[in-house]
Amino acid sequence: MRATARLWAASFRAHAAVKLAHPTGGRRRLAAAAALGAGAAAAVTSTQQRPAFCLSASVPKENSKAEVLSSPGIHMLMTVIRDKRTDQAEYVRTVDRLMAILAEEGIARLPSVKPQVIETPCGTYQGVTSPDPHTICAVDIVRSGGILLEAVRRVLPELKTAKILIQRNEETALPMLYYSKLPPNISKLQIILCDPMLATGGSALMAIEVLKKAGVKEENILFINVVSCPEGLTALAEKAPLVRILTCGLDTHLNQAKFIVPGLGDFGDRYYGTFGYAEGLWGAGRSRI
Ligand code: PRP
Ligand code: URA
Repeated sequence: MRATARLWAASFRAHAAVKLAHPTGGRRRLAAAAALGAGAAAAVTSTQQRPAFCLSASVPKENSKAEVLSSPGIHMLMTVIRDKRTDQAEYVRTVDRLMAILAEEGIARLPSVKPQVIETPCGTYQGVTSPDPHTICAVDIVRSGGILLEAVRRVLPELKTAKILIQRNEETALPMLYYSKLPPNISKLQIILCDPMLATGGSALMAIEVLKKAGVKEENILFINVVSCPEGLTALAEKAPLVRILTCGLDTHLNQAKFIVPGLGDFGDRYYGTFGYAEGLWGAGRSRI
């Protein structure tokens, strides 16, 4: 209890310093930051997911089409990227390692992966085929989605890609669509929709609408993300019930600023170094013990 109070107080002091350093233009950021402090406290007190001893996937009650991946490796990498002390270099390195796992797990769940018996040099193995990259289009929600899309492209460089630029308004957290560029035959392709954060679900639902208008069927969309929350999973279950979801983490809730708790803060700002390191929100450095 005392440790929780100390953590919250430390967060509050850091965020108050940011307010002084940014007297204008930082209101929404500050709200988010203060909420991040509350998130840190909640992270200590909330029930934590137990790490699995091997890779496993569970279906959450909020969305029957979702799978939450769990393994000791994912748990270890998630700990680094959630830790607010993690500096930018370690954040980028660790996110890229985690996304390599997520990309492989997503690709392996595509319907063109079929059972296949192969011969090893020493015997018979009940395996599966690799998917045909020409039947796949990876779509990212710019900006952070591009990080995950590149992880998918490192596995299958010849697949098609599409871009949808959606940004959450910093004051309202409502998504705004700015641009999309899709291949002409997208309606015939299996879609891997990439965006690391599923918060309210507004951005993902807007991207799904863009895809549906281009003729894509909901059941042909697999949405992969790093952290999700009950609110986002429920929104997708209600408004896009056939979209499949694969995530590395299901957190407890959204705070008032619509940030995920415990979450990891602003995914894109931490990866690209846009905001928060110089301001003391994150990146002070963590020791390895
Ligand atoms: C983040 C994230 C999602 C969105 C999730 O993007 O990458 O796109 O928020 O929130 P939602 O589920 O409530 O819509 P953001 O708009 O902050 O842009 P960024 O990728 O440039 O950081
Ligand atoms: N976008 C982020 O980067 N983080 C959140 O917690 C929610 C949306």
